[in-house]
Amino acid sequence: MLVGLVGCDGPQSVLDPAGPSALAIATVWWWMLGVGTLVLLGVVALWWVAMRRRAGPPPDDQPQVADRTGRHWIVGGGIVLPALAIVPLLIFGSPAGLHQLPLPVMSWSRSAADPTAPPPLRIDATGQQWWWALHYPDSGVRLRNELRLPVGRPVHVHVGSLDVIHSFWVPRLGGKLDAIPGRTGIVRLQADQAGTFRGQCAEFCGLGHAHMVMTVIAMPPADFDTWLADQPRTTAHQRP
Ligand code: CUA
Repeated sequence: MLVGLVGCDGPQSVLDPAGPSALAIATVWWWMLGVGTLVLLGVVALWWVAMRRRAGPPPDDQPQVADRTGRHWIVGGGIVLPALAIVPLLIFGSPAGLHQLPLPVMSWSRSAADPTAPPPLRIDATGQQWWWALHYPDSGVRLRNELRLPVGRPVHVHVGSLDVIHSFWVPRLGGKLDAIPGRTGIVRLQADQAGTFRGQCAEFCGLGHAHMVMTVIAMPPADFDTWLADQPRTTAHQRP
């Protein structure tokens, strides 16, 4: 158990969320663990009762009883039980899923709630064997296997690939998204604390897959702006 618990910490732990997107996922994870444990205990208890029960004499109307019992199992185990399991999962899971999607344009272009709030930052992440090219299209800055973002500001990562399918994943900041050649998907990340996190390609993509790692650095907004302004620029069409 101690060995297992050691895995719950560290720069790449889903169970140590550092922002709202990742927190939503971790919350669903804990609920699933809790309910899954209850189900396991229930099944073990039923198994224990069944093992200890002595068989009584068979009833006279055995075929009818067997019929009825079969129907009960089909209705209970095939309809009621899955519905009871899936509906709460949807209720908890859907909002967590929404947290990973880009914010709708309406919600930040009007900025009615907080006119000073900056719009989400766009970063393009392009997977290729076996590294990540990061590009800040608004400023022309390009990075390799390093992603920097300001604390407290939502980031829309536009994920794509140049060769095979990769998967963009920064477990402490948000969900995972496949990087598919010829397509662009968007995943929303947000860091609520400054720090260094780890991103990892999460889809086997060839021999270098395990080393397709990204360092993710969340900086206070003022530091981020200074850093961004100090970076060399590239032209928009230059390849990474
Ligand atoms: Cu790229 Cu695995």
